[in-house]
Amino acid sequence: MSWHATVLTLFPPMFPGPLGQSLAGRALAAGLWRLEVRDIRDAAKGRHRSVDDTPFGGGAGMVMRPDVLDTAIGSDDGRPLLYLTPRGQPLVQDRVRALAGGPGVRLLCGRYEGVDQRVLDARDAEEVSIGDYVLSGGELPALVLLDACIRLLPGVMGAEASAEEESFSAGLLEYPHYTRPAEWQGRSVPDVLLSGHHAAIAAWRRAQAEQATRLRRPDLWRARVDSAPAGP
Ligand code: ADE
Repeated sequence: MSWHATVLTLFPPMFPGPLGQSLAGRALAAGLWRLEVRDIRDAAKGRHRSVDDTPFGGGAGMVMRPDVLDTAIGSDDGRPLLYLTPRGQPLVQDRVRALAGGPGVRLLCGRYEGVDQRVLDARDAEEVSIGDYVLSGGELPALVLLDACIRLLPGVMGAEASAEEESFSAGLLEYPHYTRPAEWQGRSVPDVLLSGHHAAIAAWRRAQAEQATRLRRPDLWRARVDSAPAGP
């Protein structure tokens, strides 16, 4: 069975969207993963098929109804249920790796001001954020999460790229890249990269990765230093 993604959304035409192209699109066509898109509105009852209502306690916007969402989610099948929200835990590569290593995911995309908390609690949904900014719905975050997982599935990328992956697992940003021409607009490529000296190149890249992490992401750098084994 291939890795199985189910997306619950009010906007099914947003899928597969960009995931129908390039690496993820080829993997989808090859059956390395499977996408099921469920329209939340299909679970709504009544003449108006309403999926949302005004918030108890007042306030702006609408809240998605727990009964409709519960029907849309359906039965549990062992795949984690994730709800995309800026209130969630930040998505990190370790979580992506674990999700990619499992049977798949079920992703609940909210719209409006949010969803009734009770259905998240009742269905034990994991709340996930893709960053500290607010998007208009969970669809783009769902695409981001899926892309991050799919590129890690067996057979999606070559062995070369999966080794590259290890550099992020080491908690470092990547070193900078260069290609031809060796001289461009008066800018040259670092000499060491043209030296053919593999050990020197590896050492330079490592140093560049460390410097970039230290300067750009002191939070990552600190986490990495803190988790390093104690010195002699
Ligand atoms: N929905 C709206 N904004 C979001 C974000 N930053 N992460 C996840 N889901 C969201």
